[in-house]
Amino acid sequence: MKFIIAIIKPFKLDEVREALSGLGVAGMTVSEVKGFGRQKGQTEIYRGAEYSTNMLPKVKLEIAASDDMAAQIVETIQQTASTEAIGDGKIFVLDLASAVRIRTGESGEPAL
Ligand SMILES: Nc1ncnc2c1ncn2[C@@H]1O[C@H](COP(=O)(O)OP(=O)(O)OP(=O)(O)O)[C@@H](O)[C@H]1O
Ligand SMILES: [Mg+2]
Repeated sequence: MKFIIAIIKPFKLDEVREALSGLGVAGMTVSEVKGFGRQKGQTEIYRGAEYSTNMLPKVKLEIAASDDMAAQIVETIQQTASTEAIGDGKIFVLDLASAVRIRTGESGEPAL
């Protein structure tokens, strides 16, 4: 299994979520976060306002996925979250050692 962490522009969330639902992604966690990249958060446009603070609002997606699905998920996020402008975000992929579905006690891929 893989654990995918994606940092995207907030206004792209709905589009990315819909594309991932279309792939059959069973669940995800979404958080509002702040961060900076290479431009150190300078002068990006966010909801029409130009931000010049060091930390810009972003959305973090966390998705646990089977090895089979992971590459497709990463590709879909990359394609849907892209505006081809700075600040589009990053995708990190980690190996996931275990997962447990609390209600049933299932573990591993059946828990996802
Ligand atoms: N190396 C990193 N580690 C952790 N989070 C990062 C890293 N780089 C970027 N991020 C997160 O991703 C968000 C968006 O980064 P961003 O897309 O600006 O990266 P970048 O490398 O500057 O690329 P670009 O030149 O396209 O802007 C940041 O605000 C931060 O939350
Ligand atoms: Mg940047």
